[in-house]
Amino acid sequence: MPQLGVNIDHVATVRQARRANEPDPVWAAALAELGGADGITIHLREDRRHIADRDLRILRETVTVKLNLEMACEPEIVAIACQTKPDQATLVPEKRQEITTEGGLDVCGQRDRIARTVEQLRAAGVSVSLFLDPDLRQIEAAARLGADAVELHTGQYSLAATDAGRQKELDVLESAAAAIRQAGMALHAGHGLTYRNVRPVAAIADMHELNIGHSIIARAIMVGLEKAVREMKQLVE
Ligand code: PXP
Repeated sequence: MPQLGVNIDHVATVRQARRANEPDPVWAAALAELGGADGITIHLREDRRHIADRDLRILRETVTVKLNLEMACEPEIVAIACQTKPDQATLVPEKRQEITTEGGLDVCGQRDRIARTVEQLRAAGVSVSLFLDPDLRQIEAAARLGADAVELHTGQYSLAATDAGRQKELDVLESAAAAIRQAGMALHAGHGLTYRNVRPVAAIADMHELNIGHSIIARAIMVGLEKAVREMKQLVE
């Protein structure tokens, strides 16, 4: 059965919209744990647009399940990761202009940089996952670097608009998953997974971890809004 990593970046995004103290991703992580999350995922971006250094520091102390830090191969962030020691680092490409992570890492094209980062993190005792498109060349390169896991980018699958298109993307994910398994790496997946499209991906053999953010936080707003309004209405009255 795959483990569920809950990405709570969006909670920090709402906080940063007002540069306020709430909502606090530290509270959100505790509630996600109560809901059964097997892991808490955060992305400490170079521009700190949502998750802040303080969040990582406190979450490292409070999270009792797996803490997974998404991060770019940037020296400043690598140093923070080596010092803070999340249970796992997921290396992702990062562009300043992007709204969210757009594609997988280019391990073939940036081998030395990624290899150096993998080595540093592993030396600090941090398990390393690489976020990759379902591309066999990239998966082979990841295996050669000694990555512990590969997180398959499910973006193309989630964007498919027809059953046939979804099945085609699922076949691509299945082939990539087989290659990851054969290389002895753990199989993770994420990006764009929703309540509607998650099941076939969760059913891929040996799927170990799914990282899901947007859809869970979007639903949390919907299922929580009525209660929140009722509580405020009581105070107002
Ligand atoms: N995995 C990775 C590597 C990501 O960058 C993201 C987005 O931060 C996710 C999973 C979660 O994607 P989503 O928010 O679409 O569920």
